[in-house]
Amino acid sequence: MKALITAGGRGTRLRPITHTSNKHLIPIANKPMIHYAIEAVVAAGIQEIGIVVNPETEAELREALGGGAPWGAKITYISQETPAGLAHVIKISEDFIKKEPFVFYLGDNVIVGGIGHFVKTFVADKAHCHLVLSKVKDPQRFGVPELRNGRIIGIEEKPKRPKSPYAVTGIYIYDHHIFEAVNKIGPSKRGELEISDAHQYLIENGFGISYSEITGWWKDTGQPEDLLEANRFVLDQIAESPDGISIDGEVDAKSELRGKVIIEKGAKVVQSQVRGPAIIGAGTRIENSYIGPYTSIYHDCEIKNSELEYSIVLERCRITDIDVRIEKSLLGREVELFRGMARPRTQKFVIGDQSRIELS
Ligand code: DAU
Repeated sequence: MKALITAGGRGTRLRPITHTSNKHLIPIANKPMIHYAIEAVVAAGIQEIGIVVNPETEAELREALGGGAPWGAKITYISQETPAGLAHVIKISEDFIKKEPFVFYLGDNVIVGGIGHFVKTFVADKAHCHLVLSKVKDPQRFGVPELRNGRIIGIEEKPKRPKSPYAVTGIYIYDHHIFEAVNKIGPSKRGELEISDAHQYLIENGFGISYSEITGWWKDTGQPEDLLEANRFVLDQIAESPDGISIDGEVDAKSELRGKVIIEKGAKVVQSQVRGPAIIGAGTRIENSYIGPYTSIYHDCEIKNSELEYSIVLERCRITDIDVRIEKSLLGREVELFRGMARPRTQKFVIGDQSRIELS
């Protein structure tokens, strides 16, 4: 069995971060999001992985993931010229997949508990396609199945009136018949080859689709709020692990760490309070500050005289002398936030396109 992981698309909902970087490299609990997908397929016993990339960020992904050696995997990069839809992703990957069954894993999905049991069910069911469903509050954001007597009898993409409370998650398992489906369907109204239309084709043409339900945690990290939620969840998982505070950096005697806190190599915590679950990245300095629960600060940042909670901060940010607590925030790379001393006090901004700032 092989695996195909998506790392392309436009990333429009995560601008401005995705203006300069691929969204699948945004860290969750200080680990690039796509690592979770790679780890999940490798844990399911799959070593041959195709990663679908767009030409603009292909070099960045190649540099970040290489040939797959750290995971004992072999990564092949497949370039998608335009983000023409998920069925298009499969279509252009036929040369890589050949006739083998494969896991199709959307690289922006984070799931806890692995995918091994779904792979086993697919093999046992002898189905042509296995879908993984999850009950959600907002099914209209997803592909939605219609179920009758324990069978999927139809699938619609982002329907206004969902026929069930389930989302089709971004973990799919197929045999080679999916190539017939993606080659037969036409573009949708928004001009994409939709994965849900390919599934509908399978249903209408008598190819068996089986399914499993995720009862644990799953998240499609389409929007900044989803990333913060995913970060919270993964940090909670880490917090449940039996080992306590883990310190590879330095913490001075005037600092206090509470709950599960990870201080990575070369990080320094000086006269500060850190309340877990939280992770402080390699080479980061926290001085005279408060870092609250569900915060991930990536490597080589500097936080001084400031308070931060329930946030993700990317590498090399500098936050200094901010006298309101920063909360529910996602800061891109090398962001600088500081208090100017000049009078009269004014707010000055140099902000990238499509940034969002909420002042209170
Ligand atoms: O997360 C589950 C949902 O994923 C499903 O319920 C939907 O049926 C499915 O269409 C998909 O919906 P999204 O709107 O979330 O898809 P999105 O455009 O965000 O793309 C998902 C992943 O695929 C992401 O890793 C980007 C990548 N992608 C997307 C497109 C359209 C590509 O690599 N190439 C593409 O052409």
